[in-house]
Amino acid sequence: MATLQVKNINKAFGATKALIACDLTIEAGEVHVLIGANGCGKSTLCKIISGSVQADTGDILLNNQKISITDPASAQQHDIATFYQELSLAINRSIEDNIYAANEPLIFGLFIDKKTIKKDARKIIDLFADVVGDGFSGEVAVATLREDQRQLVEIMKVIAADAKIMIFDEPTSALDRAQANRFFKIIEDLKAKGKSIIFISHRMDEIFAIGDRITVMRDGQIVSSVKISDTDQNMVIEQMVGGKTIVQTNQATKVNQSLSSDVAGHDVIGLELKNLTNKQFSNINLSVSKGEIIGLGGLHGHGQSSLLRSIYGAGEAVSGEITLEGQAYYAKSPRGAIKNGIGYISGNRRVDGIYQGRSIFENLLPIHYLKTSKWGAGQKRLNQTAQDAMAELKTLYASMNQEINNLSGGNQQKVVIARWMIDKTNILLLDDPTKGIDLAAKADLFALIRKLANAGMAIILYSSDDSELLNHATRIYVFNNGKISQELTGDQRTQFNLYQAAYEAV
Ligand SMILES: Nc1ncnc2c1ncn2[C@@H]1O[C@H](COP(=O)(O)OP(=O)(O)OP(=O)(O)O)[C@@H](O)[C@H]1O
Ligand SMILES: [Mg+2]
Repeated sequence: MATLQVKNINKAFGATKALIACDLTIEAGEVHVLIGANGCGKSTLCKIISGSVQADTGDILLNNQKISITDPASAQQHDIATFYQELSLAINRSIEDNIYAANEPLIFGLFIDKKTIKKDARKIIDLFADVVGDGFSGEVAVATLREDQRQLVEIMKVIAADAKIMIFDEPTSALDRAQANRFFKIIEDLKAKGKSIIFISHRMDEIFAIGDRITVMRDGQIVSSVKISDTDQNMVIEQMVGGKTIVQTNQATKVNQSLSSDVAGHDVIGLELKNLTNKQFSNINLSVSKGEIIGLGGLHGHGQSSLLRSIYGAGEAVSGEITLEGQAYYAKSPRGAIKNGIGYISGNRRVDGIYQGRSIFENLLPIHYLKTSKWGAGQKRLNQTAQDAMAELKTLYASMNQEINNLSGGNQQKVVIARWMIDKTNILLLDDPTKGIDLAAKADLFALIRKLANAGMAIILYSSDDSELLNHATRIYVFNNGKISQELTGDQRTQFNLYQAAYEAV
C-alpha cells in the first residue's frame, strides 16, 4: 500500500504558470478527487506524477521516500498507472494488445505471450461485459471504436496494470451512465484492495458519489484539500471561482444595462425551439429575438454544439419544433438552413470551416453560391463585399488569391466569418467561434457580432469561455447533461451561477 505526496511542485509553459507551489497527499485506499475550471492545472499535475511532463521544481515522495520520475517507464516502475485525458491508445492495434501494451507478459522473458494476453484481457473486458456496446471484443482494432468505447479501453489498460497508484484524468467524459456506474463499482473494489486513486471529473454528482477526499484547484494553485464529508457543492464551487465572483458579478451587471438597451425595439422572435430532442440533448425550449445575442453555457460536450448543428441541419435528426419568425421549419440539411437565412460558424475550422489548399477568395464564396445558385456572376461586386467584410475584422492577408493555409489561425477564422457577411443572414449560430484565436481578434469578432445584432440579426452563441457569455449574451441557457438546467438573465448572469448550474447534479 502506498501513500503518494507531491511537494512544492512548480511548472511553467513559457509565460503560463500551470502549477504554483502545489502540495498534495494521496493516501492508500482513498479516492482523491481533483476539481477545478478548465486550464487550472489538473492534467499537468497528473502528467508530472505519471512521468510524461517534468516539473520545474518540487519533489514526489512514495511512502515518505523521495522518488525520481523521469519518464512514463519510471512511473510504471514505481507502480503508477494513468488514464490520460487525451487517451494513450495505439488505435491500429487490437483492444487486447492495448490493454496489455504497458505490461505484456513474456514467455521465458523473451516472447510476448499472446495466449495469456487474450485470456487476461478477456477477464478485464468481462468486467464491463454488458455495457461495452456493439463491436467490442478483444481482437477488434481500437480505430473502429466509438469515443466511449475507447475510454473504456483506456480504463481497462489501467486496471490491467494493477498498479498501487491509479490516476484517472476525466475517464467518464464520454461514458454513459451505465458505463460510468459499472466503472464506479470497480473503483470501489480497487479502493477496498488499498489502491490510491486520483480521479478527475467536472461532474459534481459523481465526485460526491465516489470521492473520499477532494482537492480544489484554481489558476495553478491548490486552494483546499478536505474530506468530502466536510464540504458541499456550493463550497466547492465558491473555491473554484474564488475572487472572480465579485469581478464577474459587477461586470455582468454593468454589461446587462447596455445589453438590454441593445435589444430594445427588437421584440420579434427570430428563432424558437420547442421540446427539441435527440440523443445528445432533450426537451430544449428556448427563443432568441431579432437583435438579441443569447448564450449557451455549461461544460463542454453537454449538448450545446450538437443543438446548434441540429438547427443548422448538420446534426442528428431531432424531434420537437423549430420555428423561424413564426413559421415551422424542418432542419434537414445545411443547404436548406442557409437558404432560410441561418448561418453557422464553428471554432473547429479544420473540420467545419476551411477548404484546405484553396485561395481566400474560394474560401469566401461557398455560402453565397449555395444561397443564390449563381456561379461566376458579379465577381467584382463579390470581391468588393468580401474584402469589406475582411477589412471590418482587420484580417491580415496579402491577396485574395493567397492560399488560406498560409494565414494564421485567427486570420483563417476571420475568413470563415467574413463568408457569412456577403449575403444577409437572419439567424447566426456561433459554435465556440473563438477557439484558438487571440485576444485582439476576439475583440474584433465580438464588435462585429454586436453590430450584426444591432442590425437585427438573432444570434445564439455557445462558448466554452464563460467570460464571452457573461459579456455578450443577454440571457444564458446553461446546459447540463443535455438539458437546460437554468436560464440566467439580468444580474443572475454571474460566474458563480454559471458554475452552479453547470456542475449541479441534474
Ligand atoms: N504542453 C503545453 N504547452 C503549453 N501550455 C500548456 C501545455 N500543457 C498545458 N498547458 C497550459 O497549462 C495550463 C494548465 O493546463 P492543464 O491541461 O493542466 O489544465 P486542466 O486543469 O487539466 O484543464 P481541463 O479541465 O481543460 O482539462 C493551461 O493554461 C494550458 O493551456
Ligand atoms: Mg485536463
